Amino acid sequence: APWYDADIERIILSAEDIADKTAELAKQIDADYADTDGLLLVGLFKGAVMFMADLARALTIPVELEFMDLSSYGSKATSSGVVRVLKDLDTDIRDRHVLVVEDIVDSGLTLSWLLKYLPSRYPASVEVISMVRKPKALEAKVPVKYVGFDVPDEFVVGYGMDFAERYRELPFIGILKPEVYES
Ligand code: PRP
Ligand code: MG
Repeated sequence: APWYDADIERIILSAEDIADKTAELAKQIDADYADTDGLLLVGLFKGAVMFMADLARALTIPVELEFMDLSSYGSKATSSGVVRVLKDLDTDIRDRHVLVVEDIVDSGLTLSWLLKYLPSRYPASVEVISMVRKPKALEAKVPVKYVGFDVPDEFVVGYGMDFAERYRELPFIGILKPEVYES
């Protein structure tokens, strides 16, 4: 069995659930952007890497891939909303249709900052897709146009999501056993 099996309390979204949802979202995005010259996918390191790769391959419209690396100061829970840009866009997004790709929206802090920053580059449009969303983000009404799944407020890992940089490679999304992060 894979090394991580013993650390997972339960699987909440299987690889098949994720693949089916990705296909469904891609179909919707294909239709929504059918009249454009294509889409610039902006993925956020490192969590969004898996979803970015799968979504890009599920779409049938032309896409280009860009990545940014953002980091919020200190603890997310107490952060004042300050975000550092560790890696900026490599390309001019002016007049481009931008779709920000995320693995998870939790407090919404990362996205709220980004959605204020991107318009200063004059894109034609900016929308957000996230594979999962936590209750906090739903309550805070963070504008995520395309959401895969709403998940409970538990410690979810896998499909890009980590605990101390581990578990990102899990092909499913699962809940981490408390003894793993409490020790
Ligand atoms: C995680 C996740 C989202 C963000 C969501 O990234 O990938 O980008 O947190 O949290 P928020 O809605 O509370 O801002 P993180 O900054 O931990 O880095 P990572 O993507 O490298 O894991
Ligand atoms: Mg991230």
